[in-house]
Amino acid sequence: MILLTGATGYIGSHTWVELLDAGYEVIGIDNLCNSNEKVLERIKSITNSKPTFFKGDVRSIDVLRKIFKSYDIDCVVHFASLKAVGESVESPLDYYDNNINGLISLLKICDEFSCNKFIFSSSATVYHPENPIPYVEGMRLVSASPYGWSKFMSEQILRDFEISFSDFSVAYLRYFNPVGAHQSGMLGEDPQGIPNNLMPYVTQVAIGKRDILNIYGADWPTHDGTGVRDYIHVVDLAKGHVKALDYLLSGRGSLTVNLGAGKGYSVLDLVKAFERASKKKIPYKIVDRRQGDIAAFYADASMAKEKLNWEVKYDLQRICEDSWRWQSMNPNGYE
Ligand code: NAD
Ligand code: WQD
Repeated sequence: MILLTGATGYIGSHTWVELLDAGYEVIGIDNLCNSNEKVLERIKSITNSKPTFFKGDVRSIDVLRKIFKSYDIDCVVHFASLKAVGESVESPLDYYDNNINGLISLLKICDEFSCNKFIFSSSATVYHPENPIPYVEGMRLVSASPYGWSKFMSEQILRDFEISFSDFSVAYLRYFNPVGAHQSGMLGEDPQGIPNNLMPYVTQVAIGKRDILNIYGADWPTHDGTGVRDYIHVVDLAKGHVKALDYLLSGRGSLTVNLGAGKGYSVLDLVKAFERASKKKIPYKIVDRRQGDIAAFYADASMAKEKLNWEVKYDLQRICEDSWRWQSMNPNGYE
């Protein structure tokens, strides 16, 4: 049995579907602080099976103990975390409390119940921005925000825990820029308030919820002056978790891998691809650079290919088509 934390969130919900599809039995836990319970009905109609779900906070050892007493958990896939970089600068203690204490409670319960496999949602944000691109797993790490530090520290906590608990193995998965939506149009990203990230902002402009896209700088040293990122389809990302789980369960030990497409696209590349996919014009204006942004980064994705036999299937065009299907079928997200 696999325990997914943050299971009703954007990446958790897509991973839930892929794990069920691969034949795994899954239990989800989420406190719904950044997701909607309606996700469960959607998962049910996509997979034809009723998801087993606990509403609860992963920081609560009592909630976790109840789950671990009732089910034999083989692996924890840990998505539950707060994730807004800007908000983390304003409320660092909330971020450290949630992201670090959640991890520690989970590791305590793993120790208590001898659960020795763990998949951790890390992020490209842990790479030092002065590293040359593409980013390779062994490169220098640092962070620029409490959110990023919470990922950096979580990786360290897990590495220390691994030493103390023999046979404990961890897949450290460093995601690049997850975008896109399930091909059914029934699952997707549903940000609260004004989106911080590019793709949900673009889809909300296309549906008429926002007037215009602000592009944060056109004077970056990139092919067209706008920022370059490695956009990865959320379903490819979810499939990467299935591969990582297979890897851990086969007893080959821990691994640290980038999950990215291994290609960089600019803001304008994405806008043009989205316009083709949606047949909508995306009005935009160039504004000042956003604080904390860097010009360009993308993954060296060869380690994931070599160790997990995983690589992305969906290109930027397909990402945009699926994002648009989700947004147009659900103009108000899950509400
Ligand atoms: P999300 O906010 O959609 O999902 C996270 C889920 O965790 C939410 O449903 C939220 O309600 C839940 N949650 C938060 N704190 C909790 C707690 N204490 N107890 C129980 N549930 C809790 O985010 P996402 O985009 O699906 O991200 C999933 C993971 O991937 C996160 O750890 C995030 O940091 C990481 N990540 C995301 C991105 C990205 O751009 N989306 C990139 C790199 C890494
Ligand atoms: C992409 C590009 C912006 C919005 C963030 C986190 C990172 C990770 C993923 C979790 C950049 C530009 C954006 C807009 C724009 N999350 N942009 N107008 O900044 O690469 O990464 O999300 O781990 O930690 O930092 O993603 O989607 O915000 O930006 O011009 O309205 O789009 O400047 O070049 P980012 P993003």
